[in-house]
Amino acid sequence: MRPKPRLATIEWIDGRVRLIDQTKLPHEFTHKETNDYRELAESIRRLEVRGAPAIGVAGAMGIALAALESDASDLPGLERDVREAAHHLGSTRPTAVNLAWAIERMLATLADPSPTDADRVRDRLVEEARAIFEEDRELSRRIGANGASLLSDGDGVLTHCNAGGLATAEYGTALAVIFAAVEEGKTIRVFADETRPLLQGARLTAWELRERGIDVTLICDSAAASAMARGWVDKVIVGADRIAGNGDVANKIGTYPLALAAREHGVPFYVAAPYSTLDPSLPNGAAIPIEERSPEEVTSLGGQRIAPSGVRAWNPAFDVTPAGLVAAIITDVGVFRAPYETSLFAKKTAPEA
Ligand code: MRU
Repeated sequence: MRPKPRLATIEWIDGRVRLIDQTKLPHEFTHKETNDYRELAESIRRLEVRGAPAIGVAGAMGIALAALESDASDLPGLERDVREAAHHLGSTRPTAVNLAWAIERMLATLADPSPTDADRVRDRLVEEARAIFEEDRELSRRIGANGASLLSDGDGVLTHCNAGGLATAEYGTALAVIFAAVEEGKTIRVFADETRPLLQGARLTAWELRERGIDVTLICDSAAASAMARGWVDKVIVGADRIAGNGDVANKIGTYPLALAAREHGVPFYVAAPYSTLDPSLPNGAAIPIEERSPEEVTSLGGQRIAPSGVRAWNPAFDVTPAGLVAAIITDVGVFRAPYETSLFAKKTAPEA
């Protein structure tokens, strides 16, 4: 595999946030830069930065921007401004728990009573956002290392949406497992679902795999079961936006039918995610809020209307795969199998620093 320079999905540079505008890929590799948390919130809403761990990092950096922007000289004033920003940022995308998790972690830093000076608290918030970014890089590496042994030399692996470096601070979750297996010397053939309606598979996953010189075949989402029926798919690996306390998994719309097809064809269905994607507060997937996006994302393609005018469309951005269809969940602390209540959730701990 070609050595790759770091893919800086999102970065903190001297009080500003710089991110790759993923809506422009693969045709244009451009960046957006801002010191305004409201603009960053819009970037999250518009999917310029996307993928559960990456929007967690973006949310944390947004809080740090709000703290720097606030002209409050005392702690209550700073806290008021930061909480307002937290509400604004947190309302952008509801399904990926990483966003709420990162914002909560930033607010816990704000609530720490030890520094009494507002400027010191601002510094601490910036440090915490940078720590969340660095930690996410490390989590991806661990997920890759933990999952690589599940893949064998010559495997055909099917993935959905984009759970690569672009969806995290760096390296990825589902794609991290593939990258790590390839780095170990295995040959892996990847089938990338195009991922309607916003084509994260066609635009982003295919691009990341090509950049690394990994064999990738793009398929329509509806071709996945046929690829399995032909015996081309040995494993399915996807990322996750939230994993409920029983192991039910929310991920990009179209993941659930993949898991059903995988069961029918005896193909193991794996989920890869960091601990920040686990949500033990929810008993099962039915409690996971599912984002519904504009119908225009379905009725149009590349800005061009494809459906007759007046036609209604339903556009859930995520679905829930029941835990019973998941062969294993690969995390930064290991590989877990059902029952997830006792295997995975007994182990929800932050990695050691
Ligand atoms: O709507 P998106 O592009 O943010 O959806 C992303 C996904 O569904 C990913 O599979 C998930 O966030 C895991 S990313 C490591």
